Amino acid sequence: MTSVLVYGAYGHTGRFVVSELRERGFEPILSGRDATKLPSGGRAASVDDPASLDRALDGAAAVINCAGPFAATAGPVLDAAARAGVPYVDVAAEIEANLDTFARDVDTVAVPAMAFFGGLGDLLATTAMGDWTAADEIHVAYGLTGWRPTAGTLAAGRVSRERRGSRRVRYAGGGLEYRDDALPTREWAFPAPLGTQPVLAEFSMADIVTIPRHLDVPEVTTYMTTAAAGELSAAGERDAAETFVVDVRVRAGGEERRIVARGEDIYAVTAPLAVEAVERVLSGRTKAKGVAAAGEIFDAPDFLRALEPHITLG
Ligand SMILES: NC(=O)c1ccc[n+]([C@@H]2O[C@H](COP(=O)([O-])OP(=O)(O)OC[C@H]3O[C@@H](n4cnc5c(N)ncnc54)[C@H](OP(=O)(O)O)[C@@H]3O)[C@@H](O)[C@H]2O)c1
Repeated sequence: MTSVLVYGAYGHTGRFVVSELRERGFEPILSGRDATKLPSGGRAASVDDPASLDRALDGAAAVINCAGPFAATAGPVLDAAARAGVPYVDVAAEIEANLDTFARDVDTVAVPAMAFFGGLGDLLATTAMGDWTAADEIHVAYGLTGWRPTAGTLAAGRVSRERRGSRRVRYAGGGLEYRDDALPTREWAFPAPLGTQPVLAEFSMADIVTIPRHLDVPEVTTYMTTAAAGELSAAGERDAAETFVVDVRVRAGGEERRIVARGEDIYAVTAPLAVEAVERVLSGRTKAKGVAAAGEIFDAPDFLRALEPHITLG
């Protein structure tokens, strides 16, 4: 059986990833920094102790890093994967951590942001592009019925805000732009049954890093339903799962192409995204080497088809 190390295995997302690996016939090796939270057979390892990460990776064919904030974990876990010569996948939503990982030059395959935010939007945008080699604008609108964040999400948000000096960031004019003004608000016409909803525009998610990394497009904008963004800042327990619609529109020379994905539970759905990625990397179904975004390294339409029924397109 192929073993895959899950770092942050006892976190909310890590647990979904462990189950998904088991369902697909992999043997997950559970790892994290706190031995008391690991089951017997788990491998405690700290990002401050490279040798412990090397021991945790012994015999693993790949690693999925679910331990965030990734500002602290992505570098050391990727280093360990590179030393072991195995592929690295993470679910980081932190724009700064993703930028750091994409800046790395490693011999192994690494796919950062292989998750709901960052990975799915990129696969959808790449699919919508079809035979277009360039676009003028890409819009990724998140229609969430709510967003009860985990502690890990909130901590990642805090670290990201600190790293960018409390400024906001957007991707415009072919680059990242840091700004101090408020987010623009507007209405977005989601498909039924969600319909038209108020959204925060330039509510920047990891897609503003993953998409322009490999698609020729000067403007990438992400939007979030205002109600879901409000829940995020009110921050309670994650006591309910949301349903989602991701509405992606790609525009070039006055023409628009659109693709819509739907499903439930943005944390749960991250597991099939990350595990499908590992399965494809291990079976050589890749188009790139080194550090790459989902849409860059995988056959995006084929990948999306493989995600059904977790994610439905239409
Ligand atoms: N891109 C996306 O769509 C997406 C989707 C899901 C999750 N995520 C991200 O994934 C991360 C985890 O989310 P979650 O929902 O699983 O949160 P969670 O339930 O709070 O779990 C966080 C996990 O990270 C571990 N961790 C935190 N800092 C660590 C460090 N310095 N060293 C080792 N382990 C550390 C925690 O271990 P301890 O309990 O020992 O602290 C715990 O296992 C967050 O950053 C979140 O934003 C992104």
